[in-house]
Amino acid sequence: MWKQNRVTKRLNIRYPVIQAGMAGGATPPELVAAVSEAGGLGTLGAGYLSPEGIRGAVREIRSRTSKPFAVNLLVTEAVKPSPKEVRRSQELLDPYREELGLKRQEPANFAESFEEQIQVLMEERVPVFSFTFDIPEERWLKRFREMGTTLIGTATTVREAQLLEKAGVDLVVAQGAEAGGHRGTFAGPSDRAMVGTLALVPQVADQVKVPVIAAGGVMDGRGLAAALALGAEGVQLGTAFLTCEESGAHPVHQEKILSGTEESTVVTRAFSGKPARGIRNRLIQDLSSRERTLPPYPVQNALTRDIRKAAALNRDPELMSLWAGQGLRLSRRGTAEDLIRKVVGEAEEVLRRLTRDTSRYF
Ligand SMILES: Cc1cc2nc3c(=O)[nH]c(=O)nc-3n(C[C@H](O)[C@H](O)[C@H](O)COP(=O)(O)O)c2cc1C
Repeated sequence: MWKQNRVTKRLNIRYPVIQAGMAGGATPPELVAAVSEAGGLGTLGAGYLSPEGIRGAVREIRSRTSKPFAVNLLVTEAVKPSPKEVRRSQELLDPYREELGLKRQEPANFAESFEEQIQVLMEERVPVFSFTFDIPEERWLKRFREMGTTLIGTATTVREAQLLEKAGVDLVVAQGAEAGGHRGTFAGPSDRAMVGTLALVPQVADQVKVPVIAAGGVMDGRGLAAALALGAEGVQLGTAFLTCEESGAHPVHQEKILSGTEESTVVTRAFSGKPARGIRNRLIQDLSSRERTLPPYPVQNALTRDIRKAAALNRDPELMSLWAGQGLRLSRRGTAEDLIRKVVGEAEEVLRRLTRDTSRYF
């Protein structure tokens, strides 16, 4: 039985293991509930869901578990791109549309309304709200605090962790450069914030008082034990949960993860306009020399949506966004409960071995 620490106590969970909220359908209510039922914290990746979609999913999670869970949002402001930058990107994307038999259409909106999404989280009184890409306005955070919602922010540097702490979050995710999906960087240039988990976590832990959760490349119990050694009090796993039975990740995405290696991924702006780590493919390769000209998130994300959707229908990995971290060889199949049980069991073994055999070291 694991002793409680500040993370498990605050989240009211058994094991310090969080399943990352992953926008785009990878974290359906079945997965979220299974993780929470197994003693971790399941998270609904709600970034791309409509307000009513979020409400439905939250209710579905609650019908499956009475345990705590989180909802994750992408802090996004309404944008007005210049027609020129949109046209330039559309022209780069048109050849793929032609290949897929699609006609170019201007997206009706670039992203869901963050304000409406957050409103639903309040109305549904979700127990934990986690977020990335920025810090929500103080008026929102204040209301969540008054309601007793636990707040988790994402940092990729010490300075971001300090800003989150100042804003009053309860827990900070330190997202290392190994992490799959979008970089959470919000204070400073993202290329300077590519700090590996091993270097980032102890520096963040030294500089903030709030408990730290390590994310990026954690796939098994060795990763959990290492994160604890670095001063984290929990881990957040994304990629490892994508290949679970309850995952909503596309089967082609799952196959690519299971056959991938530490060399398979790259950080790209091609799909969304924001740096994100995914498995290298044709679209990423083709647009690599044009990345600087692409419009920012969420514009580019909206412009590539039709292509990504059609490619997924065709089971074509070359034009899909296959977000994944660097720990690919450590991915495995099984249920979410199996994964949590294994991660926790392996960590116990590592910690026991390290403390039993100290004569091996000094
Ligand atoms: C497919 C995918 C989608 C992601 N979407 C989100 C998201 O919507 N919100 C978020 O805070 N983090 C998101 N992340 C990042 C995770 O929170 C986490 O930082 C990352 O998965 C940790 O690295 P790992 O993939 O090596 O475990 C995503 C990651 C992946 C792989």
